[in-house]
Amino acid sequence: MDIAALKDKLNAPHVELSQLAAGYPVIDVNNTFASARIALHGAHVMSFQPHGQAPLLWCSKAAIFKESKPIRGGIPICWPWFGNHADIGKPAHGFARNQFWQLHSVEENAKHETEIVLALTDNEISRKLWPHVFKLIVTIVVGPVLTVRLETINTDDVELSITAALHSYIKIGDIENIEVLGFEQSHYQDKLMDDILFLQSGSVRFNSELDRIYLDTTADVIIKDDDNSREVRVAKAGSYSTVLWNPWIEKSATMNDFEENGYRNMVCVEAANTAERAVVIKPGETHTLETVISIA
Ligand code: BG6
Repeated sequence: MDIAALKDKLNAPHVELSQLAAGYPVIDVNNTFASARIALHGAHVMSFQPHGQAPLLWCSKAAIFKESKPIRGGIPICWPWFGNHADIGKPAHGFARNQFWQLHSVEENAKHETEIVLALTDNEISRKLWPHVFKLIVTIVVGPVLTVRLETINTDDVELSITAALHSYIKIGDIENIEVLGFEQSHYQDKLMDDILFLQSGSVRFNSELDRIYLDTTADVIIKDDDNSREVRVAKAGSYSTVLWNPWIEKSATMNDFEENGYRNMVCVEAANTAERAVVIKPGETHTLETVISIA
């Protein structure tokens, strides 16, 4: 990794590049609006904190910073498949979160927000797992709100069928003191009950493990976080499913990168396109998946 060449790409004020571990660069932003950390591994937003607010993203204190290991927390990019692959030898949630991306640019936009653009193209590892030619571009905008935009450009000469998620770990005061709104009257697949379909009535509260895919929804999700006296909004575009997840005690204890009791301070709200609604992209076309995270 040529750290000097990466530093040359920083064409914006209030940004710094450092290494979390040898060969593991991160960009720290501390602009007029917020602070944020972005890892080149996975084009992964690890933190986002508007000034004067508690952090909006949760990242595990036990997260592992190593090539091919996704970071536990922040916003992993799940692509080109969401969830487990039918071939159990292939990584859950695809390979985009397991690779170093190229840093394309770091600039300040007209609103004085910081825009970081990263790219990933097919490579030896990706072609073994998924035999396609592609280009991914992620644009991360750090402003009063956080925007993450994932463009999938089909540079292959066949249609690409993809599932994906911007797997946002939202930081909360306590999982038993939140209420999640925005799913009223949506159907969901319960991943803990063989994907049986249910209809959501009212808001969602948590008192045990929960792993659901809400189908055919483009609605914003609001997390009412009583302990932090705030509401967090997760908005999205180009997404027709939203995943809601908390692993609770037993499941989180099986993950070596999940800090002890961390499940209490996070909830995942994921702008997704899942198997029931895979995105088909024709050669030469682009699909854009976006999420915007803010204080409501
Ligand atoms: C969620 C899935 O999106 O991600 C869960 O719905 C899964 O089933 C979770 O456990 C975490 O996945 P991973 O691969 O990051 O441990």
